[in-house]
Amino acid sequence: MLEAQKERDPAGRPGLGSEDPSQSPASPEHIACPASEATGEAPLIPSKPTTRRWDGEGVMDFDGTAASDKQVEVLLATPVGEYRLRAGSDPSDGVLWIAYGEDDSGHRTELPPLWICSPLRVASMTRSDRSDSWGRELAFIDADGIDHVVIMSMSLLAGTGEELRSLLLDRGVRISSDPAAKRRLLEYIALSTPRSRSRCVAQAGWHGDAFLLGERQFGGSGERIVVQADSAEAAVVGRSGTLAEWQSRVSLPCALNSRLALSIAAALAAPCLALLRMEGGGINLQGASSIGKTTALAVAASVYGPRERIKTWRQTGNSLEAVAALHSDQLLILDEMGELDPRDAGSTAYMLANGQGRGRARRDGSARPRARFRVLFLSSGEIGLQSMVAAAGGVGRAGQEIRVLELPADADAGFGVFDVVPPGFTPAEFADQLRIASGDCFGSAIDAFLSILSADQATATRSLEALRDAVLNELCVGSMDGQVNRAAMRFAAIAAAGEYASQNGVTGWTTGTASRAVTRCFHDWLDARGTCGASEESVGIRQVAAFLELHGESRFAFWDTGGDYIRGVSNRAGFRKKVDEGYEFFITRDVFRNEICKGIDHVLVAKVLIAGGALMPGSAGETTRMERLPDGRKVRVYRILPKLWGL
Ligand SMILES: Nc1ncnc2c1ncn2[C@@H]1O[C@H](COP(=O)(O)OP(=O)(O)O)[C@@H](O)[C@H]1O
Ligand SMILES: [Mg+2]
Repeated sequence: MLEAQKERDPAGRPGLGSEDPSQSPASPEHIACPASEATGEAPLIPSKPTTRRWDGEGVMDFDGTAASDKQVEVLLATPVGEYRLRAGSDPSDGVLWIAYGEDDSGHRTELPPLWICSPLRVASMTRSDRSDSWGRELAFIDADGIDHVVIMSMSLLAGTGEELRSLLLDRGVRISSDPAAKRRLLEYIALSTPRSRSRCVAQAGWHGDAFLLGERQFGGSGERIVVQADSAEAAVVGRSGTLAEWQSRVSLPCALNSRLALSIAAALAAPCLALLRMEGGGINLQGASSIGKTTALAVAASVYGPRERIKTWRQTGNSLEAVAALHSDQLLILDEMGELDPRDAGSTAYMLANGQGRGRARRDGSARPRARFRVLFLSSGEIGLQSMVAAAGGVGRAGQEIRVLELPADADAGFGVFDVVPPGFTPAEFADQLRIASGDCFGSAIDAFLSILSADQATATRSLEALRDAVLNELCVGSMDGQVNRAAMRFAAIAAAGEYASQNGVTGWTTGTASRAVTRCFHDWLDARGTCGASEESVGIRQVAAFLELHGESRFAFWDTGGDYIRGVSNRAGFRKKVDEGYEFFITRDVFRNEICKGIDHVLVAKVLIAGGALMPGSAGETTRMERLPDGRKVRVYRILPKLWGL
């Protein structure tokens, strides 16, 4: 279910648009007229005076006039069967069912109404472009006066309606617990057939020439579009401050910083992928802690909304799949890759980049259609995806490497993620400033950019293609392999989006700013990868390092803890010994060969480590050494030296 919450407009305009505002009745008397004429009976049920009313089409609003002057009430322009709406703050107000009986003289007479639920109105009927998935747009106000819109699937009316009730209760509708009233609620919704129609879609993002972001629709020549999703969640969006403020406090200070400008450009590029007919995929800012990785994510988030836009990798594959679907055609921001279960790393990256969920079972066991989405994701992590996969005993594959591009987060200028820091600021102060600014000013950039993209999709597409191809030409000088080309394509699309946004005044950057930043990042990515690709040697080193990083504490017993070294270490992989430069690891042969080097040549890895001074060879230069371990055994082990971390 998608729910839109709207703040009440201080000017007192309807929070939910009626079909034609000019028809909004000016007074309660006026409200009653159309219905009375249509039915010949007054649908009014007197209620206590209140300052809140529903208009003819049922729009709730505050009424400025003195409450005591008039009876404010009712409210369905077209009564729904025997149901009436009485709006007000009285707990007995809401949807009422009127039963009729006969008085002593045999005349039909109204019995006391049955209270069904707090005021709730069916605002429009929704269906997909295949004329199925019928639903209803329900509008109501919660006890705090917040407007809600929920798109419910009509299939919720099948059965007892329990799922519908729990959904509405969760959003703040009060519902009678009387079993008869519960049934009446379903009937009331079923009988409500407003003229107004909306097209429902499964997720936000592009639908033809319209883009849905949160509750807002950009462009679109056809019917109004609404999202009918099956969870209460939606991608976080929101707006605070003006575009000019965001530019001066966020985007302009980032202009000369390759990682930050890339982050902003990536945020803008996400909705462009569909126009460019490009695959999804991600970029992971990989580097040590406290160098500003999360700050870069916060800057990217500010293009769309508040800080909560940043999601975490710490989720199951299923929930990440649902989150990805919510971010279709938008940037998905994921912090701390290290929190992802290493066993899920490979398949999760595959799922995200391929834009297809694994398909889950519904509560009743039937298959739910697979989620499909197209996301660009920006992530941060102290270790990269390849290392995660390797640490879990999997084999890093080239395909994975392209799905998630590992970009060194450190710009190598001595300032962490920053290339330059404004005069008078330390890098940490600059990071803190940017975080505050991104928390103060957000959302205006994506609004501006989507307005431009959707206003003339064809022109935008042509411009983006031209810009992308120009950057791609620059990046792919000389012959490169197919994987590098695919990566270059992603970088080029990001640059193109940044440039196009800049040309249209969204970023405040001069021409070339986005391309320069992205080009720099592309070359840093390429350097880190090694020009001939991730060779088995570097994969091997990374696998060993990642294993020790993940399991160094949990699976290695301390060398010097007297008799206590074994206790508490389950599934022991060896011992670790503190030395001046760090730790030495004594790894059993089985673990080194079968776990750490799973899928790669352990002899080659050991030789590479010896060559780099990260493995102490045996007396005859062999890869293992005979060592006496603290448990008294004398066995052959791999002895890893602290130099490993410098390789
Ligand atoms: N480039 C930097 N150099 C030094 N300190 C930094 C830098 N970037 C951020 N910090 C400090 O580290 C803290 C955490 O920043 P954050 O962006 O979360 O880093 P990360 O995600 O890389 O761990 C910040 O509050 C700031 O004080
Ligand atoms: Mg962080």
